[in-house]
Amino acid sequence: MAVFKSLFVGAKQQFENFLPEGYTSRMATIFENKRIILGVTGSIACYKAVDLASKLTQQGGLVDVILTESAQRFVSALAFQSVTGRPVYSNMWDDREHVQHVNLAETADLMVVVPATANTLAKLAHGMADNLLTLTAVGLRAPLVVAPAMDGGMYANPATVANVETLLSRGVHFVGPAEGRMASGLMGKGRMVEPLDILAALRPILGRDGLLARRKVVVTAGPTREKIDPVRFITNRSTGKQGVALAQAAIDAGADVTLILGPVTVDPPKECTVINVTSTLDMHDATVEACQNADILLMAAAVSDFTPSTKSDQKIKKTQAEAWGMAIGLERTLDILQAIQKKREKSGFPKVVLGFAAETQDAFKYGRDKLIRKGLDFIAINDVTAQGAGFGVSTNRVTLLDADGLVAKFPLQSKAGVAEQIVIRVAEELE
Ligand code: CTP
Repeated sequence: MAVFKSLFVGAKQQFENFLPEGYTSRMATIFENKRIILGVTGSIACYKAVDLASKLTQQGGLVDVILTESAQRFVSALAFQSVTGRPVYSNMWDDREHVQHVNLAETADLMVVVPATANTLAKLAHGMADNLLTLTAVGLRAPLVVAPAMDGGMYANPATVANVETLLSRGVHFVGPAEGRMASGLMGKGRMVEPLDILAALRPILGRDGLLARRKVVVTAGPTREKIDPVRFITNRSTGKQGVALAQAAIDAGADVTLILGPVTVDPPKECTVINVTSTLDMHDATVEACQNADILLMAAAVSDFTPSTKSDQKIKKTQAEAWGMAIGLERTLDILQAIQKKREKSGFPKVVLGFAAETQDAFKYGRDKLIRKGLDFIAINDVTAQGAGFGVSTNRVTLLDADGLVAKFPLQSKAGVAEQIVIRVAEELE
């Protein structure tokens, strides 16, 4: 809490940020300055490893590539060097660094073998150290992740099955393989998963000791939709981007995340439990259930406040509507945060609750009212009419207010950046 408070000043005296007006920070990522060893072994899937190296580098990772001799038959060191901007390693007898394998193994935050052939899996399972990749893996202290790639018959071979079991029992993380068409033209299980899936799998592994390690976090995101008839509904402009970014930031901080997601087109993070909902009532039920033993609720959803008082099972015809005077009767939906507040008074869960206030005028005043009325620990206030903030865009400008009336004004930045800032402060409150 001490660090948190020191970042804040009095409610009326919102501190001005040092970032200039209109500045958008580069997307905050868990890979920033992480030393990642990318071991590449000899399979045609090698070309995808170049893409992975590029994606990791773009996200701020320091990627040291080790190529086996066989990998170099498929893809050149120059390809990796060009995307990582760093020297590529391949020769265990190279003396450009003092005991380079120990240096690599000791300083890595993570080692990932992409693609991992049956041969390399066998060597890793038996602790062999006959090339720079396996030599480094034997000395590794950081987590080891492998993405197997081989023909279905090879993956099903009893020797490979036993090697996989051995590696799993020693805590090695497997990403894939997937089922599908192999280079041989045969179908089966052994196909390497796509670089984006590998990237997603690495995040919680890197975040395992993060600020929210072993914490249960519930996030709601997106709009809710209230049915008028089978072809019409009432909703709002929320795209779910900020809530999905919050879920990702919580995953990156090591949390076990449940994302309760309204109807959106944005992809949810892969490493969390996603509960798809449509109406406010669905979201209420799912949120109440998920919050029973949650540490944190981040209520980013733009919940519909009204629902038609009568819902038609058949499409309403123009003539009917005219007969009804062209009016839709509305009634209030449940307030999910107020329902959570009641339960929380008895159970103590969730321990920390954050709500959002999307406003078009007097944002601070309305935000503070909601914080009190809904019994929140924090409210993230944003003026959705401000440039670069609000619905649909990838940036946001948020002011965070806590129950003591202390406030932090974050600069205009990516929704991922806002999410990371929020997660840091909420995690400090939990402590
Ligand atoms: N919220 C909720 N249940 C509702 C409506 C909103 O839990 N039925 C939550 C939202 O997810 C958000 C917070 O309450 O975290 C504030 O939502 P907002 O729509 O800004 O406020 P309302 O309570 O709807 O108030 P108003 O209509 O006066 O703006």
